[in-house]
Amino acid sequence: MLITFEGIEGCGKSTQAVRVREWLQSMGRSVLLSREPGGTAVGRTLRSLLLDAQNNHLCSRTELFLYLADRAQHVHEIIKPGLEAGSVVLVDRFADSTLVYQGFGRGLDLHMVQGLNELAVDRVTPDLTLVLDLSPETGLQRARSRNGEQGTDQSEGRFEAESLAFHSRIREGYLELASRDRERIVVVNGAGTEDEVYAQVQKEIESRLLSP
Ligand code: TYD
Repeated sequence: MLITFEGIEGCGKSTQAVRVREWLQSMGRSVLLSREPGGTAVGRTLRSLLLDAQNNHLCSRTELFLYLADRAQHVHEIIKPGLEAGSVVLVDRFADSTLVYQGFGRGLDLHMVQGLNELAVDRVTPDLTLVLDLSPETGLQRARSRNGEQGTDQSEGRFEAESLAFHSRIREGYLELASRDRERIVVVNGAGTEDEVYAQVQKEIESRLLSP
């Protein structure tokens, strides 16, 4: 079972993914939690290139290929072996991030991005994708204060530095993808407290994946 977590910066998906891991583990399941970019050793090198605010001259196509390279290696090294071993695999960002950020955000052709994504994922599709929906104003405020606290604003701030208009396109992109594939993609309101969001996340996983 593959569950992916998606959303704009500061939407809280990483916190929710950790809670889901703990919850499923407490039910005796084997769970693997990973993330993109940076789920493998090579991916961590790619991640630092991608998120370094000094690399603001990367062209959109370079950015696209680096995310796809990260994904291809992650699928090969972590996701497929995890699924084959029978684990529940949770991934913080996956192919939808590329459609939304490089497609809706950067303006690259969606069909082209979709085709290249297919190459990178090698037939792996999420069983469920949770999109934590939040206004970009709130998300960016949360992300910037988190980065400030952790001192990561320069090394990981390249996307936080994008305009509000860019982040609005990201949000709209997710909502559009969800409206096209309601079977797989669920939109959860990310504006509540951590516990409120978690209750919704649990409900969706329970009803869609755990109920017989
Ligand atoms: P992430 O580590 O999830 O950052 P955050 O927790 O701040 O949301 O993701 C890093 C950044 O990479 C994020 O700004 C979104 C971007 N991204 C893409 O542009 N395309 C992709 O395919 C992926 C996976 C991420």
